Amino acid sequence: TTLEGRYSDKVSDHYNNPRNVGTFDKEDPSVGTAYEGAPACGDVLRLQLKVDDKTGKIVDAKFKAFGCMSAIASSSYATELVKGKTLDEAGAITNKDISEELALPPIKLHCSMLAEQAIQGAIENYKKKKVGCGAKNCCST
Ligand code: FES
Ligand code: FES
Repeated sequence: TTLEGRYSDKVSDHYNNPRNVGTFDKEDPSVGTAYEGAPACGDVLRLQLKVDDKTGKIVDAKFKAFGCMSAIASSSYATELVKGKTLDEAGAITNKDISEELALPPIKLHCSMLAEQAIQGAIENYKKKKVGCGAKNCCST
């Protein structure tokens, strides 16, 4: 379509064949979950990372996005990008890494920002589960 014509082949590929769509049990202690929304457009993304507690590496990732084509492509690419990385390495991924790979048009940069924030949110969520909130009788420790 003319709409798809404005996007790179990589965006279309991820949009038409999104990788790693799905859900992990968010109660699983080795899963970190993030929900991110983009106020500009109202699109929403859920990203989950599964971490090997021993090595500290991300072994799997899943996402579900209710959003535009660029958000879906960014999330799909992000799930591929994080696999095999340590939490620190994954936390260093920026929206630039995503938007450059997918050649997103400038007006669509916030869609890749959504993916960057979701990676960071999921890492934080995983870490919080490990240490809890510090409260006595904390539910997560
Ligand atoms: Fe908002 Fe893409 S238009 S996430
Ligand atoms: Fe501490 Fe739940 S994370 S009470």
